[in-house]
Amino acid sequence: KPRMGGGTLCKHMVTDQAKVPLLLDPTTLKAFVDPLPLPPVLHADPGKLLQIDMQETSQRLHRDLPPTRLWTYGNSMPGPTIEALSGKPARIEWRNRLPGKHFLPIDHRIHGAEQDKPEVRAIVHVHGACVQTESDGYPDDWYVPGQSRVHTYPNKQEAATLWYHDHAMGINRLNIYAGMFGNLILRDEHEQSLGLPSGEQEIPLTLSDRLLTKDAQLYYPVSGNSDAPWVSEVFGDAMLVNGALLPYLEVQPRRYRFRVLNAANARFFHLKLAGGRPFQQIGSDQGLLAAPLVQKSVLLAPAERVDLVIDFSGMGGQQLELINDALPIMQFRVGRGSVRDTSVVPAVLRDVPRMPESAATHQRLMTLDEYDDCVAEPMLMLLNGKRWHEPVTEKPVLGSTEIWSLLNLTDDTHPIHLHMVRFQILDRRPFDQGQWLASKTIRYIGPAQPPEAGEAGWKDVVQAYPGMITRIITRFDGYVGRYVWHCHLLEHEANEMMRPFEVVAA
Ligand code: C2O
Ligand code: CU
Repeated sequence: KPRMGGGTLCKHMVTDQAKVPLLLDPTTLKAFVDPLPLPPVLHADPGKLLQIDMQETSQRLHRDLPPTRLWTYGNSMPGPTIEALSGKPARIEWRNRLPGKHFLPIDHRIHGAEQDKPEVRAIVHVHGACVQTESDGYPDDWYVPGQSRVHTYPNKQEAATLWYHDHAMGINRLNIYAGMFGNLILRDEHEQSLGLPSGEQEIPLTLSDRLLTKDAQLYYPVSGNSDAPWVSEVFGDAMLVNGALLPYLEVQPRRYRFRVLNAANARFFHLKLAGGRPFQQIGSDQGLLAAPLVQKSVLLAPAERVDLVIDFSGMGGQQLELINDALPIMQFRVGRGSVRDTSVVPAVLRDVPRMPESAATHQRLMTLDEYDDCVAEPMLMLLNGKRWHEPVTEKPVLGSTEIWSLLNLTDDTHPIHLHMVRFQILDRRPFDQGQWLASKTIRYIGPAQPPEAGEAGWKDVVQAYPGMITRIITRFDGYVGRYVWHCHLLEHEANEMMRPFEVVAA
């Protein structure tokens, strides 16, 4: 029986202090001494096969630290930024050239069914892309060092900041922590016609957090409990932007567009500018909003993206920090002199028609469950009370519209992601969790709340709040076949907050 989480601290959630190496305190490092790294750009031209190697490398995260051992795509963390055009299909060969042994602690007990699998396995998923199942990076389709896969990306979708990352069953929390992620920017003519800041004024900011040992190596915490060898969320105190600790970026006194991605395992980033300076939000996960929005802060769950415009004009010679909660994570240094800024942020960005509820032919109730039995069974997070390998229960019909109601029976916010589709958030409404657990009936205990303005566009991740029913609406356009939906807190996903769904022919 699922019980509400929180409150009791299970012993298995406590890491074994004796095993924890000496950790680095990032606040002892000098801030803003490294320029913001910009990953190399690869163009995914139709007709050309891009080849990207998964490989071990080492990279300096800060000027005063020794290099850190990483696993990457194409030798850098984040991996290369792939540029693709809407309507132009791309093919990428993802080659597994990783070493034969993992350098982060694997505990095969975390996911019983994985014990007999090779410890180094990988498969790439392009998050937010609508692709056929063979190219989607199904978690069980992993492959081992020496092997490779060619994935085809039709790119039949509107411009958006997509990203790629490892998705191998039971282990992607380690592979991504090791550095296996990067951006894929999909552009289209409409967006390019708007005159938004572009070129050198369009910058990806990929955020993550890590725990580092004194000698600057990645530390992934291990549970000290033999019955429950997992830590349910991993948070680091070293905040990285494009793989650098507390970097700076030199900007001119003009508008810039920042494509911000939260690539962390579990951390939510609550971003603002120093002094509460406002900025504009122009996009979210699946591209532009209908209209720009003035914001003073944004809360980004793992895997979510926001597209921001910051106007540095009139700030020549000044410095401005980007802050997560109370701590700076990077600095902008505004140059002096005058520049002519011809970029614009139009009052209308694109048409985002609201999907009417009446379009839905199917409604599904989906529970987000936490099993908190500390003694008999390790804690588990499940969707619909089912484990990953149980038979498929959700079979939407290709082209049909559905409403999914996510009943969060836990005390956490879970960022829920569906592959292949984009969706809209209908609302969130508080309900009586106890009554649901006792009688499987819904009693609302408050009014429905519409999505925040910043999440009212097209999304592929939704923050399902605790004690709320979060409703999303989507049309299963794309392809028939097996896909997945899951919590994007990677430790939850691994244990086992992930389920398949199968799109079936009409
Ligand atoms: Cu970001 Cu299933 O993925
Ligand atoms: Cu979760």
